[in-house]
Amino acid sequence: MKALVLAGGLGSRLRPFSHSMPKQLIPIANTPVLVHVLEQLRALGAADVGMIVGDRAREITAALGDGSAHGVRITYIPQEEPRGLAHCVRIARDFLGDEDFVMYLGDNMLPQGVADIARDFRARRPTAQIVVHRVTDPSAFGVAEVDADGRVTRLVEKPLRPRSDLAVVGVYFFTPAVHRAVDAIRPSPRGELEITDALQWLVTRGHDVRAGVYTGFWKDTGRIEDVLDCNRELLDALEPAVLGEVDGASELIGAVVVQKGARVVRSRIVGPVVVGPGAVVEDSHIGPHTSIGRDCRLRSAGLDYSIMLDGATVQRVSGVHGSIIGRAATVTSATTTGRKRLVVGDHASIEVAA
Ligand code: G1P
Repeated sequence: MKALVLAGGLGSRLRPFSHSMPKQLIPIANTPVLVHVLEQLRALGAADVGMIVGDRAREITAALGDGSAHGVRITYIPQEEPRGLAHCVRIARDFLGDEDFVMYLGDNMLPQGVADIARDFRARRPTAQIVVHRVTDPSAFGVAEVDADGRVTRLVEKPLRPRSDLAVVGVYFFTPAVHRAVDAIRPSPRGELEITDALQWLVTRGHDVRAGVYTGFWKDTGRIEDVLDCNRELLDALEPAVLGEVDGASELIGAVVVQKGARVVRSRIVGPVVVGPGAVVEDSHIGPHTSIGRDCRLRSAGLDYSIMLDGATVQRVSGVHGSIIGRAATVTSATTTGRKRLVVGDHASIEVAA
C-alpha cells in the first residue's frame, strides 16, 4: 500500500506561525506534525510516500529530505494552488499507479494510530474505507452516515445540520477505483474538488464504502488551541530522560525530558515537559504540559501549558500560560517601569495584565 500525504494547505488559522513556516511543520512535543504523520505511515507499512506540497515546498523538503531519516521514501508532488483534496489525488495519479493507498492529511494527528482500520481494509478490500470519529458537533468536518453494518450511506461536507455525530477524520484508504470518482466530480461551491464528493460519487454508484471508527485522540491541528491541546496529549505519554545537564539546585518532577546539550540551572520543572537540545533554563519554573524548542533561553521565567519554538527567549516573565512563542521571538519584562514595549508581527495576538 502506498501513502499520499497532503501538505499543501496554507494554514491561515494558524497565523502568525503560518506566515513563516508551513503549518504541517509546527512542533508537537518538539516533533513536527509531518514527522508524526510519517511515523504513523511507517507503522502502517506504507513507507512509499507521495507528498503534495504547495507554496511551502522549500521548507518541507528542507525539513524531511528524502524521508530516509524517518524510515520512509518521499516523492514530492507539487500542487500549483490549493484546489481540493480530490485534486491532490488527480495530480498524484502517476505516483499512485494502480495500487491501493492511504491518504493522510498532513495536519491530522491520531496518536493511537489506525492499525486496526488498516487491517480491516486490507482484509476486506472495500472500494474505500474512511475513518470516522464521534464528536458532539461535527459541522466543521465532513460528516458520514453509516449503517449498522459499517457501510457508508451518505457523506456531506461541513453540513449546517449534521445528520450524524461521525466526523470524517483526515485518513482515507482507497483502491484505484477512486481515480474514476475524482475524475468525474466537479468543484464544490467553495471552488474545490472535494474528496467527500468523490466518496459520495462511489456511494451513489453502489460501491462498497466503509467506515472504521477511531476512538483515540484526534485533532486537526488547524488552530492554536488545537495545537496546544495536541501538545498536552502527546506530552502525557512522555517517558522521562535526562540527556543534558541538570544542576543540583534544580528539581525535576514527573516526566521530564532534557534533550542533548540542554542545561537546567536552579529551576523547578514539573512534567510532562520536554526541554529541547541546546536550550538553557535558569531560575525558572516550567510546566506542566510545556515544550521548549531547540536553543531556547529561559531566565527567571514561569510558564506552563505552552510551546516555545526554536530559539525563543522568555526572561523575567512569569505566569505565561496557554501560549505559543514563535521562532527566535523574545518575551521580557519591561525595564522602564510601567511601560510596555511591543514589537509584534502580523496577525500575532498578545494578552497582558492591564
Ligand atoms: C478536510 C475534509 C473534511 C475532513 C477534515 C478532517 O477538511 O474536507 O471532510 O473532516 O479535512 O481534518 P478541511 O480541513 O480541508 O476543511
